[in-house]
Amino acid sequence: MSTSSTVAPITTNPWSNVSTEQFRLFLSSVTDYAVYMLSPEGIVNSWNAGAQRFKGYTAEEIIGQHFSKFYPAEDQESGKPSRALRIAAEQGKYEEEGWRVHKNGRRFWASVVLDPIRDDAGQLIGFAKITRDVTERRQAQEALRASEERFRLLVQGVTDYAIYMLSPSGQVTNWNQGAQRIKGYTENEVLGTSFSRFYTPEDQEAGIPAAALRKAADDGRTEMEGWRVRKDGTRFWAHVIIDAIRNDMGDLIGFAKITRDITERMETARALEQAREALFQAQKMDAIGKLTGGIAHDFNNLLAVIVSGLERLKSRPDDAPNPKVLASMERAANRASSLTEQLLAFARKQPLKRERHNLNELLRTFDPVLQQVTDRTVRVHFNLAATLGEVMVDATQFEVAILNLMTNSRDAMPKGGNLTVSTEEVILRPGEIPSLPAGRYAKVTVSDDGDGMTAEVAARAFEPFFTTKPVGEGTGMGLSQVFGFVKQSDGDLTIHSAPGQGTSISVYLPVDNSLESGKAE
Ligand SMILES: Nc1ncnc2c1ncn2[C@@H]1O[C@H](COP(=O)(O)OP(=O)(O)OP(=O)(O)O)[C@@H](O)[C@H]1O
Ligand SMILES: [Mg+2]
Repeated sequence: MSTSSTVAPITTNPWSNVSTEQFRLFLSSVTDYAVYMLSPEGIVNSWNAGAQRFKGYTAEEIIGQHFSKFYPAEDQESGKPSRALRIAAEQGKYEEEGWRVHKNGRRFWASVVLDPIRDDAGQLIGFAKITRDVTERRQAQEALRASEERFRLLVQGVTDYAIYMLSPSGQVTNWNQGAQRIKGYTENEVLGTSFSRFYTPEDQEAGIPAAALRKAADDGRTEMEGWRVRKDGTRFWAHVIIDAIRNDMGDLIGFAKITRDITERMETARALEQAREALFQAQKMDAIGKLTGGIAHDFNNLLAVIVSGLERLKSRPDDAPNPKVLASMERAANRASSLTEQLLAFARKQPLKRERHNLNELLRTFDPVLQQVTDRTVRVHFNLAATLGEVMVDATQFEVAILNLMTNSRDAMPKGGNLTVSTEEVILRPGEIPSLPAGRYAKVTVSDDGDGMTAEVAARAFEPFFTTKPVGEGTGMGLSQVFGFVKQSDGDLTIHSAPGQGTSISVYLPVDNSLESGKAE
């Protein structure tokens, strides 16, 4: 005998040791299947518990009746019952699913098998009929089909997103309205073709479509943005998500692809960026213009003093030089040199002598100078922290910066007021002051309860030559020095001011962690 898996023919009757009575009992007690016999003409001549359960008739009621009784009227009219018998007799089997009618008139969905029974001579002596009520299974299938249909209609109806599926090799297997709207192809034009046609020739060349599918297959999903091509050849900027679809066994059966046309959003963002860039350029040119004008104007005035002095000295070569003229020439030259220094400070190009200092100590040594800045109507308060980490700073420039801040405060309080210089050690969180890394900082704040600034003035206060003071009173270089010096010392500053609310400017300088610092006082 071969070892193939075909079923060996039954040579002995497996039921031979079961008595007819036992067999009858066995059949009659089966309740999950209606098992009964029909005469060759279709008359019911046996009945079991399952048949009674599904069809509602007792054996007494049904035996002797024609089985077409179980069929709905329309099937009886079309001759379906006798057709079933004929097919079973001719083909050795008849199988179907269809509606059957319970005694109470209710329909149920039945799975039916009809086998002819023949005697040893091959004479048809009847049919064995096995019926099962599969209504529930059918309802479940029907519900699933309806839900799939609803889902299909939903996906189909979406017009803002191209939603379609791909075979594992990238062939389009279905297409929705959104896909048609966004890409311009009808379903007939794309079904069965490779999705790579939506990519630009450059991307196709670079193998991007295949790479995208590989990534989705490996990671379960991939998301990207890029140019895609419509049917008419125009391009759009697409946001794309590809999900791998796997069956219960984990085999890749395809991909779900969702594409959105975000060209407009991308272009809006780009236009905004361009406008911002243009504005920035305009502001930069404006600032450079002011700076150049300021420098030219100031140096021109100072040079005028020096040049006219030289003229006078030259026109009287024999006289002793007039000391007044010499003095004003010297003042002009000194002023020009200090202006140069301030400009260098703003440009963060001044040579700094950075050394470790405790700012509290520096402020205490400066005190006599600082006190002179103010007049009697302004009260100066020092509010110094008990401990303050040391910073790397040029002591002279720091003093100049504090002097500039205090002078501004004094000028903002023509009728007197309070000027406070305070120190504090703070720990900045990441992004708290965008330009500064997180960490420890020594913070020095100069605040006053003077006139304050409008938002426009505050925004421009640090610009070189920006001043609101009358000609001859301010050069507009004070805060520029503060700004340049602080930036060059790896720090930054904040400004809080409002008209009538006073002004508070804080300088942050990083605490030097290179040695054991933060010495307690
Ligand atoms: N504490 C403050 N209160 C009100 N306004 C201020 C204060 N500090 C600065 N400002 C404004 O900012 C402008 C620029 O200040 P900045 O110190 O750079 O120049 P200035 O004081 O005008 O001139 P300079 O300091 O060169 O003599 C001032 O003219 C003023 O309008
Ligand atoms: Mg000033």
